Amino acid sequence: MNLKDKQILLGVTGGIAAYKSVELLRLLKKAGANVTVAMTEAAGHFVGKTTFEVLSENPVLSDLWNDTQSSVTHIDVAARSDAAVVAPATANCIGKLAHGIADDALTTTMLALTCPVMICPSMNTDMYQNIRVQENLDILERTGMHIVDPDSGALACKTVGAGRLPEPWFILDRLCALLAKKDFKDKKVLISAGPTVEAIDPVRYVSNHSSGKMGYAVARAAENRGAKVTLVSGPVNLEAPVGVDRISVESCNQMANAMFDNLKDADIIIKVAAVADYRPVNQENKKIKKTSDSTSLTLTLTENQDILKTIGQSKRDDQFLVGFAAETNDLETHALAKIKKKNLDMIAANLVGGKESGFKADTNKVKLFSRDGSVKDIPLMDKSEVAHRLLDAILSKAG
Ligand code: PMT
Repeated sequence: MNLKDKQILLGVTGGIAAYKSVELLRLLKKAGANVTVAMTEAAGHFVGKTTFEVLSENPVLSDLWNDTQSSVTHIDVAARSDAAVVAPATANCIGKLAHGIADDALTTTMLALTCPVMICPSMNTDMYQNIRVQENLDILERTGMHIVDPDSGALACKTVGAGRLPEPWFILDRLCALLAKKDFKDKKVLISAGPTVEAIDPVRYVSNHSSGKMGYAVARAAENRGAKVTLVSGPVNLEAPVGVDRISVESCNQMANAMFDNLKDADIIIKVAAVADYRPVNQENKKIKKTSDSTSLTLTLTENQDILKTIGQSKRDDQFLVGFAAETNDLETHALAKIKKKNLDMIAANLVGGKESGFKADTNKVKLFSRDGSVKDIPLMDKSEVAHRLLDAILSKAG
């Protein structure tokens, strides 16, 4: 998630979910945003102003008359904001915003905004379903605000239903999508991510260190930029990116089938997955037992199919095919050999084995080689940012 240099207004109103705004603020800051918090008096009963002040490293707008800032400040904040998110948004706040009422620091600032606005309603289910609240949400939507539907589940008021504020990472993701350029609109992108696991017996397998972070970052970035994304994923510990159609697989053969099934519709195919090159010849259906007379076990492996190569051999001219190369040495030589052997339009080569790039790391350093001979360096940066740079490069070549 990259919100570097973005000015974000975080509105907090008085609901129990206000505690989640603290985590949202932390995530916004981590994503590089400069955040100003505007809170209602009621929000202060749930989370103190000092918490927001310390974490945002900015003065908090909470009282038009008694704050140290002048009453003009809310206009300045509104004017410089690139986006605003109100989370949680109470029925009261939604009503005021829908009808242009500006009687406190938050609503006054909101009325002066010209940037994209996201509203995250959170309240008791009956309140949320009340026709007046729904009508007010309709008004906000009609006037261009983006409503993030609340989750359903157990609420603090002991009822079960719609009204729970979504998790902060989800709200951040939707904000990034709101701000992203939509240059992948109408493009269908097929991505593979994570490792494959090849069973030895019901309890053991052959695999590799891929965490899925790089492939998921590419899927998330493409979705944020308007693409329709299908993500074929080996077993990983990551939530499915919002708005992405995830197909979970285990082995190379399963990954191959899922990729081939979805190939026809894809405009762009990006194979980030670390596929196991070999699998055990025999997959025992009972656990292999230790024997007392032997201190070694020989596993015979057979080569897996090369999914990328097969796709490269059959791809249409209007499809753009990108592979990844994970190398420990001679990055350029190996990457160039793979681009030819697998008939790729582009390969993203990264060094693995270190702490900062490749497997498991949050960051990566990639060299992009294109079929036309051009080379582009993506220096060490967060995998989400690498993903966006990769998509920029793909767009410049694929059009
Ligand atoms: O998941 P992370 O922890 O974030 O780590 C990211 C990563 C290091 C896995 C990723 O950046 C990466 O380099 N992915 C490619 C890993 C890999 O398998 O590289 P390779 O050089 O062995 O394979 C080259 C290409 O052929 C890859 O696109 C691979 O998906 C594909 N391939 C390989 C073997 C095979 N049987 N079928 C394939 O399709």
